[in-house]
Amino acid sequence: MVTAEHLNKTFGRFTAVKDATFSVDRGEIVGFLGPNGAGKTTTMKMLTGYLPPTAGTASIAGYDILDNPLEARRHLGYMPENVPLYDDMRVMEYLDYRARLKGICGKSVREQIAEVIDKCGLEPKRKNLIHTLSKGYRQRVGLADALLGNPDLLILDEPTNGLDPNQIRQIRELIRALAENHTVILSTHILSEVEMICNKVIIIDQGEIKAADTPENLTRGLRAAGRVSIEFKGDPERVVAELEAFAPVKKVILEEPIDGWNRLLVRAEPGTDTREKAAAIITELGFPMRHIYRHIPSLEDVFVEMTRRD
Ligand SMILES: Nc1ncnc2c1ncn2[C@@H]1O[C@H](COP(=O)(O)OP(=O)(O)O)[C@@H](O)[C@H]1O
Ligand SMILES: [Mg+2]
Repeated sequence: MVTAEHLNKTFGRFTAVKDATFSVDRGEIVGFLGPNGAGKTTTMKMLTGYLPPTAGTASIAGYDILDNPLEARRHLGYMPENVPLYDDMRVMEYLDYRARLKGICGKSVREQIAEVIDKCGLEPKRKNLIHTLSKGYRQRVGLADALLGNPDLLILDEPTNGLDPNQIRQIRELIRALAENHTVILSTHILSEVEMICNKVIIIDQGEIKAADTPENLTRGLRAAGRVSIEFKGDPERVVAELEAFAPVKKVILEEPIDGWNRLLVRAEPGTDTREKAAAIITELGFPMRHIYRHIPSLEDVFVEMTRRD
């Protein structure tokens, strides 16, 4: 659905996006994840044709964004970071105006507007002036706009930025529903957001793509994977000695006891699970145990590992 090859964008001497190569398949929900200033908006603007790349190419639905910009744009709906809405228009008027700008005409204008209003839950607000809408509803208007023309691909720049937790949940559900019929690329600097809705993550930092994969694959190979915490009573030295003799275990750290319970942190090879062995060792020694837990690495761990500066 999208291919980007060696995309570069420089502003003067500053390189905002460096050699970005990635692809997005039809039906995917892809999260562009990176800190503020990483180059997410710049990359999205290049994909949507709003900003010409300094070098490199990209295509949308098989159409090159430079050679066939009109065809490429016909296949995508774009919701920019700060949705430029006309405050003194009513929701319906605005969408009508946007539809005409996009060259949707005739009878299908009305039908399409009714459809996007319905999809985005804007029915109760369709006659409201835009400046009277909450930020959550304004985002819905931006989404409805992006949906006009029923594009295959939606490119959404920070769709939940500035929303409160309830609004975030509503917009997230809406994006999830839209993803049933559209390929979606969204950007965010919020890790949990990507974890909740995306089936592919592209991590971008300082203009460079650091990783592109499913969240599961990204977390699987991580150092944090394979870490196990245990709390038990009894001689810790004996437990440590037996655990250290077990092959996948790399290091056993004795932590401060809590309420008389000894605490161990077991570091093992990524992808291994030492819980069963650890539990067996402690049980065979006849020691009571109240807790055993395998740490599940999060995208945050991946992100830290990908973007650490040391
Ligand atoms: N028009 C511009 N002129 C100069 N620098 C820019 C321009 N647009 C973006 N930048 C810079 O490029 C970098 C990436 O910006 P951006 O793509 O907006 O990041 P993100 O969306 O990930 O927060 C930032 O350092 C930003 O200041
Ligand atoms: Mg941005």
